[in-house]
Amino acid sequence: MSAQAGLALVDRDDAGVDRAFRADVLAGLAQRQKAVPARWFYDSRGSALFEDITRLAEYYPTRAETEILSARGAEFAPAIGAGRAVVEFGSGSSAKTPLLLRAIAPAAYVPIDISGDFLRAAADDLAADFPGLPVYPVEADFSRLVELPAAVAALPKMGFFPGSTIGNLVPRSAVELLGAMRETLSGASGEGAELLIGFDLIKDPAVLLAAYDDGAGVTAAFNLNLIARINRELCGDIPADALVHEARWNDDLARIEMHLAATRDFAFAVAGHAFAMRRGETIHTENSHKYDFRSAATLLLAGGWTPRVHWSDAAHRFAVILADASELRMAP
Ligand code: AVI
Repeated sequence: MSAQAGLALVDRDDAGVDRAFRADVLAGLAQRQKAVPARWFYDSRGSALFEDITRLAEYYPTRAETEILSARGAEFAPAIGAGRAVVEFGSGSSAKTPLLLRAIAPAAYVPIDISGDFLRAAADDLAADFPGLPVYPVEADFSRLVELPAAVAALPKMGFFPGSTIGNLVPRSAVELLGAMRETLSGASGEGAELLIGFDLIKDPAVLLAAYDDGAGVTAAFNLNLIARINRELCGDIPADALVHEARWNDDLARIEMHLAATRDFAFAVAGHAFAMRRGETIHTENSHKYDFRSAATLLLAGGWTPRVHWSDAAHRFAVILADASELRMAP
């Protein structure tokens, strides 16, 4: 069955500028520590570069999670149950989805992504591989409540959030996102919904740093593409040749940080607003938090999800956790 027309929910002004993108960039560049939320990496070039990253020798998370989805798939069906609408948040190329869809017997598949063209192409490919499975792509920002297609309204839902994308949010935002997903999947009550979610595990910082600063410079290109996007979409003139990619391990907060560091002083404008950077100053462009099973469970519980089963790869680099939206509150 071919992918059905998506619902366009990104809020653009008359000139076609994504209002949320402009607001985030202007607010972030005005901070003492300049920062832009990592979700803005994913225009079509950023999404393609991220796909390249997932194939790098140094970038283990994709291989580790794929290993879990293929080697442990037989355990998913009894844990998850048949007949659910699988709702994938930030589906990208949907590369891991076939492994999940083959392991369980879903009634429909709803990929959600803000990169519309990429989303529809991937949804068409997937629909061709699963004849008979209704596929309903939704172009939307999944960090907020998303209105799901009416065709899946009556089905029980399972959210699928692979790739450890939850780690790209600070814990407070991660908890908000988990709450929004719970609401998207089942209304305010959250009753009956499930979530299958990937977490990257804490490990040797040298392994982590190599994964975010690869020898071929693909991650650097991915980081710098954010500047190209700002310049193109928000009438910016940031000199990309005066910024270099940096990956740092923040041990206190258990996260990799990506920055763009200025190699000289310069002034620039974005959307008519003036800014400046001093040599050595950085724009903080991404956090990638790493978890252990207990900290992941605490995060899920804070977001309204009760962890039920977890799986990890043979080398214990990555975890996939199945949680449900039931209330687990023994005391206040
Ligand atoms: C999408 N996300 C989980 C990736 C990560 O590992 O944090 C994004 C990424 N950034 C640099 N490399 C990969």
